[in-house]
Amino acid sequence: MAKIKHTFVCQSCGVTSAKWVGRCNSCGDWNTFVEEVVSSKDTKNNASISSIGHVEARPFRLSEISIKESDRLDTNNGELNRVLGGGFVPGGITLLGGEPGIGKSTLVLQVALSLNDKKVLYVSGEESLQQLKLRALRINKENENCVFLSETSMEKILFHVEKEKPDLLIIDSIQTVVTEHLETAAGSVGQIRECANLILKTVKPLQTPTLLIGHINKEGSLAGPKILEHIVDTVLQFEGDRNHLFRILRSSKNRFGSTSELGIFEMEQTGLREVINPSELLLSNHDMQLSGTSISCVQDGMRSFMIEVQALVSSAAYGTPQRSSTGFDIRRLNMLLAVLEKRAGFRLMAKDVFLNIAGGIKIQDPAMDLGVITSILSSNFDLAIDTRCCFAGEVGLTGEIRPVNRIEQRIIEADKLGFRRIYLAVSNPSKLKNIKAQIEVCNVRRIDQLVKALFAG
Ligand code: TYD
Ligand code: MG
Repeated sequence: MAKIKHTFVCQSCGVTSAKWVGRCNSCGDWNTFVEEVVSSKDTKNNASISSIGHVEARPFRLSEISIKESDRLDTNNGELNRVLGGGFVPGGITLLGGEPGIGKSTLVLQVALSLNDKKVLYVSGEESLQQLKLRALRINKENENCVFLSETSMEKILFHVEKEKPDLLIIDSIQTVVTEHLETAAGSVGQIRECANLILKTVKPLQTPTLLIGHINKEGSLAGPKILEHIVDTVLQFEGDRNHLFRILRSSKNRFGSTSELGIFEMEQTGLREVINPSELLLSNHDMQLSGTSISCVQDGMRSFMIEVQALVSSAAYGTPQRSSTGFDIRRLNMLLAVLEKRAGFRLMAKDVFLNIAGGIKIQDPAMDLGVITSILSSNFDLAIDTRCCFAGEVGLTGEIRPVNRIEQRIIEADKLGFRRIYLAVSNPSKLKNIKAQIEVCNVRRIDQLVKALFAG
């Protein structure tokens, strides 16, 4: 076996150095040196996936390659299946990222414990076996075929993987595992990359679906090198506001499915619950007619749902009015206020404006604009909006209401939930002909037309 050596390599220009240096002598970049493994004879590091293990490396015709959908490992979790594109793929590596405390470990433990007849190896480098047991008791599920290992050494973990040959391997988290080949600390770029490569080389020939948990850094990106995202097949992000109950699971990369799918969960005392119909939950306390609230019909990925937009407009106590927003881009709010002021003649200059999107969900859909200005106007006039109306439209700088995408889906969703009227931009009537819905579609061209329709009389 080749002797393993390690060296430091500049990630910008590729120059090597025996010791770590802060600034690269060759390209002049700072903090680019990362410890890497080099072994003179061993060229496995550069080997392609097909030559890893015993897979025969020869060219194949597409017709010679067979795929069976049934090969996918069903996770027994509808929302996770939806985001993965139908379950885990044999040999596929999935990276699940998210902020601390968002519920990553809870989600994977729940999946591990619900795969009853499948063998699962759950490796935790973060928690002891007792802590895992406590969490399992909370989730209240049991799977006799699920085994737990509290270990951080990559070599020992892979030894157990080869021995146990599980149907699913879970590693919580990639930042806590270390390989003996490198001297740098756990969680460093070199360690993460090397460990991920070792996992890849072990699980591809065994065809073991693998789920890695990754921490997220201050900037919100998956901590560790971008290269980790290149190595894995699927990257999932678990998002949400820790103070709210909702959690959203998205995929930012998926070699085996769509990235526009979205899974919604609710954190409960006994773990994460799948939210199959988010609108009903988000609108649960919307029975009373109060001024300052309206319902937006938003689209995220392939799913459309209703969301409550609340606004409060009050006279500013001090010279500079306050503008505050939760769950909606503050710059967009300022823009909408400027449009209301300039194009529709509302004097909001001396008013404080507070905006809140119920449920703590952050949605970046321009169709929210119409709901936002409706809520602001409703609070400004102190006139309630009919709770059976909903809104979807983008507002342009000239005060025009612009059409949004997937209008048919939005109409169908609103109709399904019993809304009586949906306000939209002037839409293409031929597209809507095929929709069998009872809901009344009201087209509005400009803000003043909306004001007339909602508040006149
Ligand atoms: P955890 O899965 O440990 O988060 P992560 O692995 O992403 O850091 O769970 C985080 C939070 O979830 C924790 O603050 C407690 C809460 N929680 C519940 O509300 N209900 C439960 O059943 C469990 C297991 C956790
Ligand atoms: Mg955790």
